[in-house]
Amino acid sequence: MAHFSENSRTLEIVHSLATNRDELFSACKDSSDVCVIALPASQEPTQLNQPLQGVGDLIAEASKNLGENVTLVVLGEVIDLVQVQSKMPDKFMYQHWIAIKRETVIDGDQRRLPHQHFGALVYTGYKASLRHTKTRIEYTYCPVCDKTTKDYGGKKHTYHEAGTLISDVWRDIACDLGGDLSEVLERLADLFGLEPYKSLTVIDMKPLGLYRQFHPIVHFEFQENQLPQELMNKILNGDCLEELHTIPDNSIDFAFVDPPYNLKKKYSGYSDDLEIQDYFKWCDEWIYELSRVLKPGRTLALLNIPIWAIRHFLYTQTILKYQNWIVWDALAFPVRLIMPAHYTILCFTKGESRELPCFTGESTHIRLSSAPKTFNAFEPLADGFCLRENCVDTRIAAKINDRTRLTDVWSDIHRLKHNSRRVDHPTQLPPHLMYRIISIFTKPNESVLDCFNGSGTTTLAAHQLGRKYVGIEASEKYWRLSNERHQEIFDGLDPFRKMERLLTSKNSPVPRLKKQVYKVPKKTLQLEVKRVAGEIGHIPSRGELIQFGKYPIEYYDKYFISWGEVTAAARNTGMVEKRKLEKSQNIVQQLRLLENKKEFKN
Ligand SMILES: C[S@@+](CC[C@H](N)C(=O)[O-])C[C@H]1O[C@@H](n2cnc3c(N)ncnc32)[C@H](O)[C@@H]1O
Repeated sequence: MAHFSENSRTLEIVHSLATNRDELFSACKDSSDVCVIALPASQEPTQLNQPLQGVGDLIAEASKNLGENVTLVVLGEVIDLVQVQSKMPDKFMYQHWIAIKRETVIDGDQRRLPHQHFGALVYTGYKASLRHTKTRIEYTYCPVCDKTTKDYGGKKHTYHEAGTLISDVWRDIACDLGGDLSEVLERLADLFGLEPYKSLTVIDMKPLGLYRQFHPIVHFEFQENQLPQELMNKILNGDCLEELHTIPDNSIDFAFVDPPYNLKKKYSGYSDDLEIQDYFKWCDEWIYELSRVLKPGRTLALLNIPIWAIRHFLYTQTILKYQNWIVWDALAFPVRLIMPAHYTILCFTKGESRELPCFTGESTHIRLSSAPKTFNAFEPLADGFCLRENCVDTRIAAKINDRTRLTDVWSDIHRLKHNSRRVDHPTQLPPHLMYRIISIFTKPNESVLDCFNGSGTTTLAAHQLGRKYVGIEASEKYWRLSNERHQEIFDGLDPFRKMERLLTSKNSPVPRLKKQVYKVPKKTLQLEVKRVAGEIGHIPSRGELIQFGKYPIEYYDKYFISWGEVTAAARNTGMVEKRKLEKSQNIVQQLRLLENKKEFKN
């Protein structure tokens, strides 16, 4: 699929092979351009678990030769990129983990989810945020109704005709790491096609003949223990480490955690800003405890942002066996340059994994009313199909297959945006994310543990799915809240139902204004700003809008949360929902117009 990079001077792609270490080092020597190192792919499923011997040290050594303006991209399997990041010299700034869809899915032998992505670690020699062109990905259209896959509602005039801004999950293209990477390379050549870069050097590491380290399978032959009655179906109010000590070894069937990310989130009764070393020391302690209470063959799943997941990986691989790196593409609509859109759900097992209940038929999809109509735990909605109710109904009536295979890339579950389903917790997960995770890894009646239970999404989902649960939550407020919500299930209510709630900024990821009656619709005001921009040849300042606009400035002050929102339509071409003929030609023309202020005026 097409991408469009504004004002890009596409870089020349230069290929080089590294048949030995010296060739690798000399290919990197003094490069201040864009350097892509392509690591070899795993040849078979078992190798997804086996890192390339010494790969972290080798890339670290080679990177020392790179110039200070360089952008370095390392393409590789998860297991190798984790080792690379652990050894990367401090002079390099980590910028992104981009998850790229694989063309050929690698089967998971029923013990793991089929594997469908590899990664691109992006570093810079400079410390500022990543410099790249504004790159957009063409909109996709539903194969049934032919409208854009996402419904852009009444905001189409503020979006760009060329597509959505690129995020850190590339699902619109699919390549194999060991195969033809040209789509990825062409995208990188456009993405970084700006001063001072001239070329993109691709160093293929395959000929170097690195071999993969065999990881011995650790067998745990411990007896499984019973979860004591007094812990069964309880939410404990306390510190995770203290409470975990009360849980017997080998007594839990599945542990899930969505820990505080140490990103200064405003939790009730917990400060989310430890020194980074202290934060990870603390994380290692509860990961250890979780692995202790897990039964052999069972899974610990840990949700975090990719850079923190790498650090958790490095510790967890010393005690548990790597199972899956699930890419949860959670964002409905990227609005920033390479918007971080995904979370990692890191899965490790105690010894060799058992065959997963979702594959053995011991766990079935249960339809719950709070999940969207299109949601199925084991059969995700295929890319491209829309969620418009009438289109969904048409597909059901016409028995159109809009499903795809469940792999380790999930894009059919979005973060909770709507206030009506949110409770008073800042980082509440969507319930159907937990329906899927719990249904994959557990059978009915098995036990689920979450030691950062928050508003209770994990234990509530487990409860609804007929699993046993144990939750731990430090904040008394959230502990109380989750208990009340479990009581709702006992009372026959759905704790995730839509509710009439007052809009508050606290419960929403975006600041909210009070509902109000607009004297002039917001769309009209935004289009007026666009008209003024066309007239004066640039985006107007507040003063210029007062001078040239026809509506009182008070409306803008009162109705919009930022100047960015006021000027959103002026900065964009606007989009149409229906697919257009000769679309790509139009888009290219439109981008040229935007580059030229004079033409923009017309
Ligand atoms: C990211 S939130 C989890 C949100 C949860 N998944 C949900 O959907 O509501 C992390 C939670 O961990 C809790 N927490 C922080 N430190 C803790 C500790 N030491 N022990 C137990 N819980 C803790 C916070 O109060 C917060 O509710």
